[in-house]
Amino acid sequence: MSVQVKSNDDTSPAPVLIVQVWRGDKDGAFQTFEVPARANQTVLDVVTEIQRTQDETLSYRFACRVGMCGSCAMVVNERPRWTCRTRVDELEGGPLKLEPLRNLPIVKDLTVDMEPFFNKWRDAHGYFEPGENPPADFAVVEPSSPERQAVDEGIECINCGVCYSACDVVSWNEDYLGPAALNRAWTLVNDVRDRGQDARLTAVTGDAGCHSCHSHMSCTEFCPKHLSPTFSIAGLKRATSNKLWRRR
Ligand code: SF4
Ligand code: SF4
Ligand code: FES
Repeated sequence: MSVQVKSNDDTSPAPVLIVQVWRGDKDGAFQTFEVPARANQTVLDVVTEIQRTQDETLSYRFACRVGMCGSCAMVVNERPRWTCRTRVDELEGGPLKLEPLRNLPIVKDLTVDMEPFFNKWRDAHGYFEPGENPPADFAVVEPSSPERQAVDEGIECINCGVCYSACDVVSWNEDYLGPAALNRAWTLVNDVRDRGQDARLTAVTGDAGCHSCHSHMSCTEFCPKHLSPTFSIAGLKRATSNKLWRRR
């Protein structure tokens, strides 16, 4: 185990983890806890143990515990991660340090308000547009088609907000749509059944859209699903530029 542990006295030799947890709102402070170190312990296990055995007022969020729902993300030792699939023994040295996701308002402790994040999905037209007369039958989308291949990774997004927390452009410009919403828009741009492309491409163009991305790739580096929002945003840059040229 590489994070900081402390051995107890001779009568209780089991090591304990030193854990610093953010408490309160944006003006809060770290509180230190000690938690028994256990085999195969995840960061979410540690938070849950603190909440159940030491301070039931600790606020945090989780649901599935198996990397599907995207609700457990926090900043762990200075980088955003999903906590249900981050094992303590994988982490760098020092005390375990837990903070709420960055770039979102803190509700309390480790819980952030995800509303601005999801509002940007709406603003990027990250929802399916069936058109006025959608066909009654299911559409067949060939798995080998170029459009389907282009979004093969992107559709696996679990909306965890890790990329949004990692993105410097979101920090500089609170209106920037951000990597997750733009990734979602790219998956829909490639959906051959969708009828909302013009409005979607307009929505992702402009100061807060895909062209504000600096391609720093923090989103791609930290995404726990190993997706590449940077790739998706590059696709949107091409698609919006092509649309502009078609108009000239
Ligand atoms: S590549 Fe773009 S969206 Fe991703 S972190 Fe960098 S600036 Fe943000
Ligand atoms: S792109 Fe990755 S990091 Fe961003 S919300 Fe989706 S799964 Fe999470
Ligand atoms: S609790 Fe669902 S992804 Fe972690």
